[in-house]
Amino acid sequence: MLFISSSSASLHRPRRLAGLFTWLLTGTLLLGAASCATLPRPRGVGMGAAFAVGTCVNVGKLQANAAYRTTIEREFSSVTAETDMKMDVIQPRLNTFEWTKADALVRFARQHRQRVHGHALVWHGSTPKWVEQFPGDTAAWDGLLRQHIQTTVGHFKKQVKAWDVVNEALEGDGSLSHTVWYNHLGPSYVARAFRYARQAAPQALLFYNDWDIEGEGAKLNGALALLARLKAQGIRVDGVGFQLHTSVGASVGTVSAAMQKVAALGYLVHLSEVDVELNRQGQLGAATQPPAEALAQQRQFVRDLVAAYRQLPPARQYGITFWGVSDGDTWLRGFKHHPEWPLLFDEQYQPKPAYEGFREGVAAPVVAR
Ligand code: G3I
Repeated sequence: MLFISSSSASLHRPRRLAGLFTWLLTGTLLLGAASCATLPRPRGVGMGAAFAVGTCVNVGKLQANAAYRTTIEREFSSVTAETDMKMDVIQPRLNTFEWTKADALVRFARQHRQRVHGHALVWHGSTPKWVEQFPGDTAAWDGLLRQHIQTTVGHFKKQVKAWDVVNEALEGDGSLSHTVWYNHLGPSYVARAFRYARQAAPQALLFYNDWDIEGEGAKLNGALALLARLKAQGIRVDGVGFQLHTSVGASVGTVSAAMQKVAALGYLVHLSEVDVELNRQGQLGAATQPPAEALAQQRQFVRDLVAAYRQLPPARQYGITFWGVSDGDTWLRGFKHHPEWPLLFDEQYQPKPAYEGFREGVAAPVVAR
């Protein structure tokens, strides 16, 4: 509610206009502040970007590591639970739900006016062991899928407005992987999952998320075919997450073409798990620090990637999320068993050249397509 000062009526013309201007300016700022209170406030690396810039978060580290926590507060306007909203954490045993860490992340995000992106309701990579031995028939498996999705989405209700409903359902050739859900429910498990999520949160943004769909090949075409099948069944998918676990050798042009293709079909585009490897083949051996030229390459790659992302229609720009804060936090070091420096901050949480690259990408001119 904006209150117009009654004193403005008694002012002579110039002062009356000044009063009016003050009122208009105040009103705008208040309204602006109100809308910002509900939207992720751009900050840090994302300052000036018209889309959310986020990171995945390990809640245990968030609670234990001050540098990790303050960097996330300062630099990012969106957070994704790296593991703490996955089925193996949320439902460690049948009908036993564990919300502690996920709720802590939601509280943190609310305190810092950050968006929470829900990840991931259905993924074979985070299906708890007990599911593998679940003895039910098709109806029971359907009930299990529905219960997990609707309990999880229902628990977070309005605090998590977007979900990766199904993660990594495809093989490299674009066919559906024969995961535990496929084996018990057939190809329809994907449609069932989106249907159950939509029933639980009609207003939520529902995403299909996958890796290596940023190429120009069979896997992207498989994803587009999957989305088309879902659409033909009347199931609304709002967006596509390109994980983009990539490397400095990759082609930004190819990524751009894939993003544009998906955006043209009306989907939001989320670069959902970005890391940019410098040492993908292990060619840097046991180096303890990356060479300067590799860091320069990473800066250029990130700059070009952000510039390409900004070429998307603004209405399709859901955001860019990095899969980790500092190089010391990356999952890749455990996965690849060799040194890797794929993120925006170094082990001391200091911005790397890639951070500057991101800022340069945000400032780059958007060339009309
Ligand atoms: O928390 C337990 C700890 O109590 C235990 O002592 C330890 C050793 O067993 O494991 C810890 O859990 C690990 C968890 O990360 C938390 O650190 C799991 O074993 C480990 O499997 C899990 O790895 C995560 C993986 O997804 C599986 O959930 C990675 O951190 C995470 O970066 C990775 O992220 C995935 C995306 O969700 C989907 N896209 C691919 C991406 C990379 O694999």
